[in-house]
Amino acid sequence: MSFRRFAPVAVLVLTVTATGVLLASGPEDPERRGVAPRTVNPTWRTECGACHVAYPPALLPARSWEKLMSGLADHFGEDASLDAATAREIAAYLVRESGDRGAGRAGRKAARAVAPGETPLRITGTRWFRHEHDEIAPGVWRRAAIGSAANCGACHEGAAEGDFSERRVAVPREDRTAAHAAGSQ
Ligand code: HEC
Ligand code: HEC
Repeated sequence: MSFRRFAPVAVLVLTVTATGVLLASGPEDPERRGVAPRTVNPTWRTECGACHVAYPPALLPARSWEKLMSGLADHFGEDASLDAATAREIAAYLVRESGDRGAGRAGRKAARAVAPGETPLRITGTRWFRHEHDEIAPGVWRRAAIGSAANCGACHEGAAEGDFSERRVAVPREDRTAAHAAGSQ
């Protein structure tokens, strides 16, 4: 089954590369996947990645995504409205890949950390998020190059592709731009 799925890839690329692809692409390896979704819906990636990174669906439970998608006209102070068909497509995708439905081990952990009676709209407000980021001092989030905890890409260089692995984390230092500007005077 998995061979059939990847066979056309092997035909298209050189043997050495193909071997790498086959080894790296165990279809359902939750560890390799981290918090990245199993599938990427292009509409979601474009529409929900327009103002910030397209946040991993696994990091909130399905009920959070349903609530968020029903309030796009007032989305954290912005109007993020979509036409009904697009909103339906994205909502269905987010629910399918949510922490309590489609996620791998890492996402399930995030969803389980949300109390049953809670429906958070912010990943950054969850207990899971605070726990994963407990080594970051409060003042760090406000550094100029970061601005907000919701700006995942400031520290996770692979955020736009859904890669939040520890290997690709670099916290920007204190106000680099200001330091640079001061240094050049
Ligand atoms: C018009 C711009 C815009 C679009 C389009 C948009 N958002 Fe947002 N979103 C924001 C802003 C602004 C915030 C608040 C960011 C902050 O606090 O720094 C936000 C925050 C969020 C958060 C909470 C982040 C946190 O703190 O954990 C989630 C989740 C989210 N958006 C999901 C979505 C989804 C899903 C879509 C697509 C349907 C979407 N957004 C489209 C502007 C947008
Ligand atoms: C100020 C920098 C910073 C920002 C902004 C940030 N993170 Fe992180 N993140 C970290 C650090 C540091 C770690 C811990 C890495 C480690 O354990 O070595 C981490 C860990 C994680 C992990 C666990 C990775 C693993 O493999 O164990 C996930 C998932 C994650 N962050 C997601 C997010 C998401 C989603 C956002 C945005 C909503 C975000 N982070 C914003 C710095 C940041």
